Amino acid sequence: MNPPTLATLSQFEGQIITLTVWLTQKRSSGKIHFLQVRDGTGFVQAAVFKNDVAESVFDTAGRLTQEQAFALTGTVQADTRAAGGFEIAVTGLEPQAVSAGEYPITPKEHGVDFLLERRHLWLRHRRPWAILKIRDAVQFALMTFFHDEGFVRFDAPFFTPSAAEGTTNLFEIDLFEQDKAYLSQSGQLYAEAGALALGKVYTFGPTFRAEKSKTRRHLLEFWMLEPEVAPSSHVQNMNLQERMVSYVVRHVLEHCATELGLLERDLSKLEPAAQGNFPRITYTEALEIIRVHIENKDLPSGVQDDIQPVLWGEDFGAPHETILGYHFDRPVMVERYPASFKAFYMQPDPENPLLALCDDMIAPEGYGEIIGGSERIHDYELLKSRIEEHNLPLEAFEWYLDLRRFGSVPHAGFGMGLERLVAWISGIDHLREAIPFPRMLTRMYP
Ligand code: 4AD
Ligand code: MG
Repeated sequence: MNPPTLATLSQFEGQIITLTVWLTQKRSSGKIHFLQVRDGTGFVQAAVFKNDVAESVFDTAGRLTQEQAFALTGTVQADTRAAGGFEIAVTGLEPQAVSAGEYPITPKEHGVDFLLERRHLWLRHRRPWAILKIRDAVQFALMTFFHDEGFVRFDAPFFTPSAAEGTTNLFEIDLFEQDKAYLSQSGQLYAEAGALALGKVYTFGPTFRAEKSKTRRHLLEFWMLEPEVAPSSHVQNMNLQERMVSYVVRHVLEHCATELGLLERDLSKLEPAAQGNFPRITYTEALEIIRVHIENKDLPSGVQDDIQPVLWGEDFGAPHETILGYHFDRPVMVERYPASFKAFYMQPDPENPLLALCDDMIAPEGYGEIIGGSERIHDYELLKSRIEEHNLPLEAFEWYLDLRRFGSVPHAGFGMGLERLVAWISGIDHLREAIPFPRMLTRMYP
């Protein structure tokens, strides 16, 4: 049997166990110390009764400070009042190093800036714990999903010679005396090479965007998962997105009840997404939905009433995505946007070449775009002309054009922002809490 942890107390009911824990909080009366403790796997209350333990144990318990580590010995008792159903009746305590000064994050309320400045310690608290466990479960579900679907993980480089997603938010770096290099905005172009070599691939790694705007949906560094399939089509690509997202939501609902409970997540808001059947609407239909909401003043909270409808040919702003997200009870896939404001590599819609065979998946409840994807241009001449029209340097794309020179086929893929997905599933309103150490315009420390 594995050694005891707070997550597996039920296997040790009635037994005396010893494990290393940290004190999160303490409440004392003359006769009892209630120790709230954690061990990384969970949180539990341990009670020290003066009458039941040696005097030295009771005194030691009284001197424990917040976040001090100690070896705890005690009996595991079922307790219906306890959050996890168990409590520990302490029989022995063995403190480890004494804390050097007062622990900075006290149980009282702190502002987010105060907490982010101490993110390395804040991670130990319940809320970050729950969110980061969900992040882990999401990643595990994604890996399992793609493995079961026969995909090969294919890692794209982080240093790139060219822009993949427009040139406005590129991080430029000096690479010795060589030409300019950039931090990767997307692994997609490399994933396309991978798909033509290995069939179905996905990349998964940090992605960098020099976003000058401070919004709750943008990080400078975020993790993106990018599947790419050759051959594939726009419709198959959307089917894959829907299967993936509903799979991940089902997995989290099944495995993260404690974490979702701790975050007080309203599960009825997640359950529809677990069923699949995501609505699919065109960009043009989306404009109409948005227009009607604005006309009827039927706006979700957080959207200002002076919001203007989107004119055909314009991209959505965050509030428009929020309206769309509230209109549906599960993620909605908006397809066939005007090609004019989309990336250079998107295949034109054969029915209307002004449109791109692409889609964005918009999450419910105002979380905005979680996925962007498309079918890729497979024709050499068309792709070359698009690169030129976008004023991108042809030399840097010669290798990418080779993918169309040799054995080109229609293929498709998408990119999913991990933090956006985690934020939505967790029900937290800012991306900064969905990653261990957020990188933002206003924050590089710790
Ligand atoms: O829509 P985007 O820009 O698409 C691409 O990069 C494509 N090359 C993907 C592909 O087809 N392989 O970004 C994809 C997703 C967005 O939908 C969003 O979830 C996330 O990446 N994202 C960000 N997440 C956090 N912070 C940012 N600054 C983000 N920018 C994009
Ligand atoms: Mg996008």
